[in-house]
Amino acid sequence: MLISDIRAKYLAFYKERGHAVIPSFPLVPKNDSSTLFVSSGMQPLMPYFLGNTHPAGVRLVDAQKCFRAVDIEEVGDNRHTTFFEMLGNWSFGDYFKKEQLSWLFEFLTNPKEGIGLDPERLYITVFGGDDAHTIPKDTESAAIWKKLFADKNIKAKEVFLGSEEEGYHNGMQGGHIFYYNVKKNWWSRAGEPEHMPVGEPGGPDAEVFYDFGTPHDSRFGAQCHPNCDCGRFVEICNSVFMQYIKKEDGSFVSLSKHNVDFGGGLERLAAASNHNPDVFSIDVLSAIIHELQSLSGVSYEDESHRKSFRIVADHMRAAVFMLADGVIPSNTEAGYIARRLIRRAVQHADRLGIIAPGSLTPIVAVIAKEYYQWYPELSSERMDAIAQLIGREEERFRSTLAEGMRQLDVCIKKREVTGHDAFILFTTYGFPFELTKEIAEEHGITVDTEAFKNAMREHQERSRVGAEQRFKEGLGDTKDKSST
Ligand code: ALA
Repeated sequence: MLISDIRAKYLAFYKERGHAVIPSFPLVPKNDSSTLFVSSGMQPLMPYFLGNTHPAGVRLVDAQKCFRAVDIEEVGDNRHTTFFEMLGNWSFGDYFKKEQLSWLFEFLTNPKEGIGLDPERLYITVFGGDDAHTIPKDTESAAIWKKLFADKNIKAKEVFLGSEEEGYHNGMQGGHIFYYNVKKNWWSRAGEPEHMPVGEPGGPDAEVFYDFGTPHDSRFGAQCHPNCDCGRFVEICNSVFMQYIKKEDGSFVSLSKHNVDFGGGLERLAAASNHNPDVFSIDVLSAIIHELQSLSGVSYEDESHRKSFRIVADHMRAAVFMLADGVIPSNTEAGYIARRLIRRAVQHADRLGIIAPGSLTPIVAVIAKEYYQWYPELSSERMDAIAQLIGREEERFRSTLAEGMRQLDVCIKKREVTGHDAFILFTTYGFPFELTKEIAEEHGITVDTEAFKNAMREHQERSRVGAEQRFKEGLGDTKDKSST
């Protein structure tokens, strides 16, 4: 299925069930300095989990633009992207587990109103309890899932796995519903209960994994299980039951209203609907890859280049959405993330043989064409300005890329890339540290992150002292007052 069809069906499905459709919030959060980008659908809706009333009511649905910087280094496999759309539906103190899970199962498996996935291929994980905070196992969600499967004549056995390690050790055991511990099946913005600040809401979650049926890769662990990283199972969505809040003494109490926070990865849902484990094969991403193939003359089928295709496609898409929301590439905060994305895209385009300055700009138009109908901020006028910004950034980086690569090659030949080398590559050639680290690691060389950070700190300190000195000189105040 096309992502535009899945998005439209999802919004219509929940609208039909009393939800108000709201637009995506911008990628850069407003009035929230705790984070650079929106990374989940619920984040901009935080006040309503804590009791505020949303003007559109207690049932909402949307498709939210999200960016997760933590996933930058994962991009290159068949399922991770930094930018993605999260389909979300919420209940603020209205419906709870039974409606949420039943509707979700209907949407996932019904070919008419939903996306028609084969229920046999859906595997569920639920919360196995947390003794440390006296939070019980989520047997209620497990029972609802069991019944939903039974209605489709599927006998869904429950299996307690606990940790990921136990999963790798004990395997599937014929199960369809698996209990995992807090690390896997508890959700809050800060993660596990012990990492949550006082006043933060969170709760157990029930995740759905799609089984692509690919063979298990034992490099990841002896046995496969839903949370195995071999790629057979891919998490496609997550229903969080936001029902607890952390108190001053570290304990958890029930929120006055029990909420539902659902998030489904649109790209992964599309990959599951096409039964193709490569998320880059979905329509919007394959359009970018198609353009990259024309620009490079290299085939995506060539495994040795596939990672670079994926990185360029993902990073360009993320950068275009960021720039469309007002981010300007720079050396700080959100701007630095945009710069890193563009530079890493340029570096991998280079590996594909796309080396002419400005050669990535046609990708901007491909992305806009794919998304404009749903995201009007990707209008053609704005895209022209964005293509120019990206072109300028690309040009600046390309002017030093070849020389920087030569310097890095010298280090690689010596089998050592020091923190100081990485510092020079960053300050002189514009190589973000992660890029140096990544290239060095491809050659089996580890870069000393601490030494790089120290060199940066010393550099910043020197710049600060220098700036103060220049400021004083500007005031004609060069004398050391203590000596007068
Ligand atoms: N907020 C939940 C997530 O991001 C749905 O997975």
